[in-house]
Amino acid sequence: MKDKTFLMIPGPTPVPESVMLEIAKHPIGHRSSEFSSVLSEVYENLKYVFQTKNDVFLYTSSGTGAMCAALENLINPGDKVLCLSIGNFGNRWAKIAQSRGAEVEKIEVEPGKVIEPEVLRKRLENDKNKEIKIITLTHSETSTGAANDVKALCSIIREHGAVSVVDGVTSVCAMPCKPDEWGIDVLISGSQKGFMIPPGLAFLTASERAWKVYEQCKYPSFYFDWGAYKKSTQANSTPFTPAVNLIVGLNTALKMIKEEGIDNVNARHKRYALALRAAIRALNLKLLVEDDKNASYAITSILPPEGISVPDIRKILKQDYDIVVANGQNQLKDKIFRMGTLGFVCERDLIAAVGALEAALLKLGHVFTPGNGVTTLIAELNK
Ligand SMILES: Cc1ncc(COP(=O)(O)O)c(C=O)c1O
Repeated sequence: MKDKTFLMIPGPTPVPESVMLEIAKHPIGHRSSEFSSVLSEVYENLKYVFQTKNDVFLYTSSGTGAMCAALENLINPGDKVLCLSIGNFGNRWAKIAQSRGAEVEKIEVEPGKVIEPEVLRKRLENDKNKEIKIITLTHSETSTGAANDVKALCSIIREHGAVSVVDGVTSVCAMPCKPDEWGIDVLISGSQKGFMIPPGLAFLTASERAWKVYEQCKYPSFYFDWGAYKKSTQANSTPFTPAVNLIVGLNTALKMIKEEGIDNVNARHKRYALALRAAIRALNLKLLVEDDKNASYAITSILPPEGISVPDIRKILKQDYDIVVANGQNQLKDKIFRMGTLGFVCERDLIAAVGALEAALLKLGHVFTPGNGVTTLIAELNK
């Protein structure tokens, strides 16, 4: 049906109407006092959502821009960077580090698995001369639906002394992520995920330790330069013309998050993701990330039943029920489909999605007890 499409992909995510209406207004001047007061609220509320006392920079870019903003302000050619990769986005850190002339080493796992803290501990114990300068990791790996134990990994990194750089693109808002408390040195995220606004903005916050490394960076990024952003952020401004309308929308979205409370927002995502996982199992389907303790609360990866294809499931969900779910990426294309439960999603949406999935599976001849998914979902949501 026209205008009825509901996105259950891991970004872009649905946007609240009040945010859309703000974005639809005429742009305001980016050097006006009116915009400066919007920025002042946005910067304050970003610190609240990121749970940090440090500044949070606002970039007009996609999430990958913030990844570049992190590494391009830290790396000098020849620096040793260890990339902990649990999927495509972990690999992206390695590519960006390589583009800055770093000497990159990767620790990789098979899709759906996470980095075990002991594996990192052992590797760092062997780095006797402390050659590793930067360690990158992904919190919620959107390509697989697995989530690293960032708290444990960053505490091991702190003991070693390297700077930790964390991709929180689909974790900030969806999962507890506390840079100051957990010792994350650089944390980045993107607007089209848990922040409930369209794509186009990205965020970065850095610890004092990270700033010391930035000060040694010989060729910091021009567009993403931390020094320029710090100065502007502290003056409730931006160095260049930002996506004004998105920022006005972000102001409304951040107030909604603050009103609900970041801990409640995190808890809501956890409840939804775990309920969805239980419902999927009740439909005799398998999850790529088998263990709930390694699961992202933003995105759930599901294997199709034997003999039924991912494109067929996606097609029926879209054509017959107006629900869009994502395919797998790269080597996981057509092997999994991914359901996002990130941002502006409520229980009604989940019940509708699981009901639609049951209807699609029935049409495709999958054998299960109809109603089991929805019943399990509701029972889990009501726990
Ligand atoms: C975990 C993660 N990191 C990085 C990115 C890159 O963000 P963007 O596509 O906005 O550049 C994404 C996008 O989905 C992501 O999910």
